[in-house]
Amino acid sequence: MTRRAILKGTGSALPRTRVSNDELAKRVDTSDEWIVERTGIRFRHIAEPDETTGTLGADAAREALKAAGLDAADIGLIIVATATPDNTFPATATKIQAMLGAPDCIAFDVAAVCSGFLYALSVADSMLRTGAANHALVIGSETFSRILDWEDRATCVLFGDGAGAVVLSAEEVGDDRGILATRLHAEGQYCDMLYVDGGPSTTGTVGHVRMQGREVFRHAVTNLASVLGEVMADVGLPADAIDWIVPHQANKRIIDATAKKLGLPAERVVLTVDQHANTSAASVPLALDLAVRDGRIKRGDLVVLEAMGGGFTWGAAVLRV
Ligand code: ACO
Repeated sequence: MTRRAILKGTGSALPRTRVSNDELAKRVDTSDEWIVERTGIRFRHIAEPDETTGTLGADAAREALKAAGLDAADIGLIIVATATPDNTFPATATKIQAMLGAPDCIAFDVAAVCSGFLYALSVADSMLRTGAANHALVIGSETFSRILDWEDRATCVLFGDGAGAVVLSAEEVGDDRGILATRLHAEGQYCDMLYVDGGPSTTGTVGHVRMQGREVFRHAVTNLASVLGEVMADVGLPADAIDWIVPHQANKRIIDATAKKLGLPAERVVLTVDQHANTSAASVPLALDLAVRDGRIKRGDLVVLEAMGGGFTWGAAVLRV
């Protein structure tokens, strides 16, 4: 038996307001046809002023705690993956801790943009296995609508707001349960391909998302197929052992091309990009929660998570649910 991080519960939260491509086309020079054809996106949720990365993350966390049958008081570690924190500091994780009423625990944010949830999951896995905590909340939460340039049609149509959360618990289990492998990567020489043109230490402003879409697309397919190969090699299983792949939901074409490279049928891919657009660090836990709640992902399934984002950063995880 080995001490491993087990998935105990999932949760998610979306802002009240849902915006269709046609509604967006009234504000921006675009069309439903262009957005669907290039990205697969049909809707995105946009946060109202009272909805923040913190409030959405706390709502998702409450759902995950309920699903896990745990209280906030049981949690020893809270990690929030976000590129859109409520404040530059303190960490949104501490704000969510306060909103949940969780007592003294470890709480911090991780900034790896769209792959933030994979980074946070990997850190939580290590900390649980080495005994830093027994139960962890890992949250991906974003309000990208606040850092979009609504005049730039090449980026503003791609993103949405939302949050997803998981509860992980350390348990002594056999070798085929819980998080089995994680892999993380970063190549900072590509930091100009996808970035925000502001920050506390440079401009003193929040800034807006800037992206070289074609380059991002090309790197995403190559890097994601490669890291998926690495994690499957780590667990010693072929790609067709995967029951469900829960990819980062940036673009349906990236997801399809990656699945094709691995020879995975579309029926095993969880897809939410049509409904949520790209919610950055929230996209993987949001999609995971949806597929757990609608009964697709069941106990015993082999699930693979993957994401790629600004930096570039990317990563993947394999877990037996
Ligand atoms: N509506 C209508 N026309 C548009 C829009 C829009 N929203 N945006 C751009 N266009 C136009 C451009 O102006 C250009 O017109 P032109 O030919 O007259 O100059 C034309 O469409 C083609 O523009 P490209 O940028 O070359 O379009 P492309 O086919 O590359 O598609 C896209 C753009 C969808 C962004 C694509 O590059 C892509 O998906 N890249 C991946 C980016 C991504 O997913 N980023 C998310 C963050 S990273 C991550 O999460 C992995």
